[in-house]
Amino acid sequence: MRLTDQERSLRDGAHGEARARAMDLLIRYGEALGAERLVESRNVAGAFNASTPSVRHMADDGFDRVFSELNLDADDVVDIPHMAVPTCQLITGIDNDNYELQGVDPGLAELQKQSEKYLGRRGINMMCTCTPYQVGNVPVKGEHCAWMESSAVIYCNSVLGARTNVEGKESTGAAGLTGRIPYWGLHIPENRLANRLIRVEADVDDMADWGVLGYFTGFEVEENIPAFDGLTHQPDLMKLKHFGAAAASSGGVEMYHIPGITPEAPTLDAAFGANARPDPIVYGRAERDRTWERLQNATDRKLDFVMLGCPHNSIEQMSLVAELLDGKRIHPDTALWVHTPRAIRQMADRSGYTEVIEAAGGVVMSDTCPSISRRLPQGVRVIATDSVKQAHYLPAIAKVQGWFGSVQQCVDSAIAGEWLGKVA
Ligand code: F3S
Repeated sequence: MRLTDQERSLRDGAHGEARARAMDLLIRYGEALGAERLVESRNVAGAFNASTPSVRHMADDGFDRVFSELNLDADDVVDIPHMAVPTCQLITGIDNDNYELQGVDPGLAELQKQSEKYLGRRGINMMCTCTPYQVGNVPVKGEHCAWMESSAVIYCNSVLGARTNVEGKESTGAAGLTGRIPYWGLHIPENRLANRLIRVEADVDDMADWGVLGYFTGFEVEENIPAFDGLTHQPDLMKLKHFGAAAASSGGVEMYHIPGITPEAPTLDAAFGANARPDPIVYGRAERDRTWERLQNATDRKLDFVMLGCPHNSIEQMSLVAELLDGKRIHPDTALWVHTPRAIRQMADRSGYTEVIEAAGGVVMSDTCPSISRRLPQGVRVIATDSVKQAHYLPAIAKVQGWFGSVQQCVDSAIAGEWLGKVA
């Protein structure tokens, strides 16, 4: 691998042991990927927090040990200095305010809080969400990033036109300490061109429509880069967030192009660039209906739990949930949790949305989600969600039955205590 003078001095220890280990890790990682060089990155989003029972024994030796083992792949303990570049924490396993409802023991919740202080002193911003782009981390077009979390990565590449691969705990830890990441994959312009074409013939307008199209897309293109033809409705941040999370769940999609909407595709020709345009994959009414059916993994209509806010809700989505619940009461046998970044929760509090949701019997959760924490209300057998991603993962992770529908269908069902949405 070709290194700059600065990278060589980092590797050789002139900037401390932790940065030397980080550079060594990035060189080995890059060489395994076939990268010829590293690239500077000043935007890192990773997972650093100590919020799982398995890190408890490590934390007994201090948080340097946790970071060394989990984020630097080091067997011994290294003193961890301040990050070299802006770095943020993605979603965690524990809501610091609602940990008892999650069934988290107080000792583990306290460990997470201490871990956050440790990380904050090292320059890691506690955004604690899978949607850092909703709370201030908005890289610009062309910016090289080192992000984890598939739903954030696809948003970063496609909607913002910034560049990242799906990184891991170790590579983001090393990137934060050095400001470097291997130059490969989606950092390289030619690798960002479309190589699959989806012709949309069904109407795709509301949030659920966009989610279902995303789910179809992931199954069809797997890890390729699709461009879309035939979409007629203007999407917004929320629809593209939902769409990308769905595509990254059923497939390994990390980037897509919607001509006239996403920044690297002013036209369909520009989306493909030098790539040959393949035969289109058609998404019509029949494909839409089949994909919707695929998302219904339940037979029992009696509902135990409704999960909203995956990816984490925007303030507009919080407003909608409050509006739908205003003056209503959630069924006593059904729990409803709404997930949003903590920074947006503050806005929801001040706007009165949290009060309305709580008065109806709902819970506003931050910092986490059931798929990441693997914690649901006790005894849950049947869930409903407005999220394709949760509908995909939760039945397998939590061994529950799952319904998928619009936010209105989910809220109405939470009030009724039974699934009122479409069955298939
Ligand atoms: Fe975010 Fe959890 Fe969904 S990490 S994208 S809320 S599965």
